[in-house]
Amino acid sequence: MKTTRVLTGITTSGTPHLGNYVGAIRPAIAACRAAGVESFYFLADYHALIKVDDPARIQGSTLEIAATWIACGLDPERVTFYRQSDIPEIPELTWFLTCVCGKGLLNRAHAYKAAVDKNTEAQQDPDTDVTAGLFMYPVLMAADILMFNAHQVPVGRDQIQHIEMARDLAAGFNHRYGDHFVLPEAQIEDHVATLPGLDGRKMSKSYDNTIPLFAPTEQLQKIIAGIKTDSRAPGEPKDTEGSALFQIYQAFASPAECDAMRQAFAQGISWADAKHRLFELINQEISPLRASYQELMAHPEQLEALLQAGAAKARAIATPAMSRLRHAVGLRDLRTQASRSPAKTTKAALPSFKQYREADGKFYFKLVDAAGKLLLQSPGYVSPQEAGKVVKKLQQQPQAFTGLELPAALGASLDEVRQVLQQLHDAADQ
Ligand code: TRP
Repeated sequence: MKTTRVLTGITTSGTPHLGNYVGAIRPAIAACRAAGVESFYFLADYHALIKVDDPARIQGSTLEIAATWIACGLDPERVTFYRQSDIPEIPELTWFLTCVCGKGLLNRAHAYKAAVDKNTEAQQDPDTDVTAGLFMYPVLMAADILMFNAHQVPVGRDQIQHIEMARDLAAGFNHRYGDHFVLPEAQIEDHVATLPGLDGRKMSKSYDNTIPLFAPTEQLQKIIAGIKTDSRAPGEPKDTEGSALFQIYQAFASPAECDAMRQAFAQGISWADAKHRLFELINQEISPLRASYQELMAHPEQLEALLQAGAAKARAIATPAMSRLRHAVGLRDLRTQASRSPAKTTKAALPSFKQYREADGKFYFKLVDAAGKLLLQSPGYVSPQEAGKVVKKLQQQPQAFTGLELPAALGASLDEVRQVLQQLHDAADQ
């Protein structure tokens, strides 16, 4: 069975909340247990630098997110789990891709355009507070994906354009330098519902309505008590439709538990009781994970070792891939001979003519392949010039060679010798 490579990055700029858990972490961990997939998960800390200029927050968030994924059951033996900034090949590939990326493509990126529109509306310079990092964000992301030739990239809808750009860059590079990159596809998890936050809007850091995934028990209870509800009194039937509380409940409940809660709503459960049930349900799933999270947070050296091992695994792929790419674009060892087309053999590997003088005083030449196998042996000539003339003719007009003009031993079939002569001729033409 051919394996599918699945890769996704997590920006290390915040603290994981229940929405991240339900929408990304839990489904990703379930997916990487499937057969036939090879998963790559990484901490996108280079991306975090675009948004966050507080070093302590970058480090803290990297630690929290690494601990979260491991605590939630990601098995680093099974997947490749690494930190983006441990892979120096990624920024190098970013530059290669930058050089095949039309600036116009980046001008059209949603995030950049939104920033420009906002500035324009405020009658400011369009690029006020826009860093080149924000502008280049899609190229860095393309390098993340193409470095490992990922087939599938699970992302939210807001990231679809970035995957399309990665495809464009892959195709542009392949067109210039040969078939190096798989064209990746976005994998949109439509069946996982987005979790509402405390105020009923989508749970998101930018709305400040999140429930931190590993808040201590009492705090979790308090935060859940703050979920917005309507003002129906205990005993009054309540709607599940449009209830953030019910939707969050659903994300953690079995179908039977959901039915029971639906019934309780119809029978007028008090909001306080409903919230308590929600707390119990979430806490039951989260508390064992919280315990391993706290254990990991107390041992950053374990996480560091784990990430180093992940980086070694990732670089076992990235380093050789990057050296092929360097060669493809022409960043090469000068001792190797230039060949202008990637498909052509380099001169070093070509067959060659050798001229020499024998003890009989005559001048000979032979054609040998790269491995030294004799392909053609000449008769003796009285002068080196005469031998040289024949060599020159064979080099210039390979198809004129019939075998008859050289009454000598053919070390290979006539066809093979003709082919070799033609190959030499083509190589000399470049
Ligand atoms: N941009 C992604 C996000 O904000 C994070 C990310 C960085 C990523 N590199 C990636 C996701 C590569 C998938 C693949 O969610």
